[in-house]
Amino acid sequence: MRIMSKLLKVKIAPSLLAGDFAQLAQECQRMISYGADYLHMDVMDGHFVPNLTLGAPIIKSLRPHTKGFLDCHLMVTNPEQWVDEFAKSGADLYCFHIEATQDADALINRIHDLKMRACISIKPNTPVEQVLPYCSKLDQVLIMTVEPGFGGQKFMAQTMSKVSAIRKQFPELDIEVDGGIDLTNVGIASGAGANVFVAGSSIFNSVSPKDTIAELRRIAEENLNTAL
Ligand code: DX5
Ligand code: ZN
Repeated sequence: MRIMSKLLKVKIAPSLLAGDFAQLAQECQRMISYGADYLHMDVMDGHFVPNLTLGAPIIKSLRPHTKGFLDCHLMVTNPEQWVDEFAKSGADLYCFHIEATQDADALINRIHDLKMRACISIKPNTPVEQVLPYCSKLDQVLIMTVEPGFGGQKFMAQTMSKVSAIRKQFPELDIEVDGGIDLTNVGIASGAGANVFVAGSSIFNSVSPKDTIAELRRIAEENLNTAL
């Protein structure tokens, strides 16, 4: 086992995009009962990414059915437009893309004023330098390990240098990875310094999602590297 931080906790965040949207509340409850730490909600507007999913009304309808932490990943242009509505709907964390905003600093402040946690995400081809200036005021940073838009894509290992660059400078920050995470690469991501793991297909399509969550956690904890 490598050096483990007392402050950093491994968190597993099933992506509901791979679940059954017709039974969203039950899917969320099922994932929490299987040991999930977060419920990852992928919000897509058909503009920032070529896919359309859900918005604040669904978060609002879902909220009374689960106490689970709603980790909302907004793949939208103009993320400023939805922040108030997501706060009112009961989102716990608001994650926006740096590529989609003109004033990240103001948006982080707004998210915090509305009592949500703030996260910035960057796409695979966006340099890490774009997010570093904001990390000290963020609650989480999200390094995309696939091009945002769809579940079921292949993990891009070349994004790991961004994870380790952030971990080097921010030993206590929650670093989330999203896209193609499974049992074969979660050790690579945690070895690079990530501690929050989004997984859609690998959890929902497995024979036992409960065992997969436990196994993702075990491997991540074994490899978590906070000393890069
Ligand atoms: C992709 C989404 C992901 C996606 C992950 O744009 O942000 O959260 O649902 O799904 P898998 O784990 O199947 O790659
Ligand atoms: Zn996502």
